[in-house]
Amino acid sequence: MKRLIMIITALALAAATGSGLAAGDPTAGQAKSMVCSACHGANGNSSNGDYPSLAGQVPGYIAQQLANFKSGIRSNTIMGGLAQTLTDEDMANLDAWFSSRQPTVYTLADNQLEIAQLGEKLYRGGYPPMQVPACMGCHGPAGTGIPPNFPRLAGQHAEYTEAQLLAFKSEQRRSEIMSPIAFRLSAEQIRALALYLTALH
Ligand code: HEC
Ligand code: HEC
Repeated sequence: MKRLIMIITALALAAATGSGLAAGDPTAGQAKSMVCSACHGANGNSSNGDYPSLAGQVPGYIAQQLANFKSGIRSNTIMGGLAQTLTDEDMANLDAWFSSRQPTVYTLADNQLEIAQLGEKLYRGGYPPMQVPACMGCHGPAGTGIPPNFPRLAGQHAEYTEAQLLAFKSEQRRSEIMSPIAFRLSAEQIRALALYLTALH
């Protein structure tokens, strides 16, 4: 816990002093975004749960993740290859374009509402028996995130959110903050959170 608090303080300081990434130009980002749209959708609203939506993401997060794919900190065959072709400036421009797009809102089916309620409880209150902190403390009460380090989760595809939480849990995707949190969640709790978040707005 002490280590977690130190990391949060460091992230908050980084946010206060700027992320170190230059502010991008959305028009130049739009021009570069054609190749991205094939998977992430026009305007960053993807129609396939394998591909995350990027629309309305917190400014700074997309550029940071692209840099992580490029350096290999975050490993993914498709994105790793693509990120090699992008300069820091391209990343900042793509960030500015996608983060300024309007995210789509999803509606859950009736038979998903009950499990989504369990997700809501976890999102707002954490899971004290396993010392899991409330997600909303970092990702915001409406799931809209806090720039630049805490991503928007609201409206994201449930398939993608579930896959990322499982990847954090197995440390296939490493994060000093998210891996220990996901590690203490069950597969059922993860599915519940993912369903709740996809319809949160
Ligand atoms: C062929 C499909 C494909 C294309 C084209 C593509 N992506 Fe991706 N992208 C993916 C997949 C799959 C993931 C999920 C990777 C993972 O599971 O870690 C992803 C993840 C991302 C993420 C991480 C999102 C998050 O919430 O953490 C960002 C940012 C991103 N892509 C930006 C881009 C940009 C910018 C482009 C265009 C230059 C692009 N992508 C083109 C498939 C694609
Ligand atoms: C202490 C702050 C903190 C708390 C609490 C927290 N997160 Fe996170 N979360 C982060 C950070 C930082 C990242 C970005 C990790 C990275 O850079 O890879 C993240 C990333 C994520 C992602 C990946 C999003 C994407 O677009 O790929 C998901 C999903 C997520 N968190 C869900 C949750 C859930 C569900 C909870 C509650 C059980 C939670 N988080 C609690 C800080 C937090």
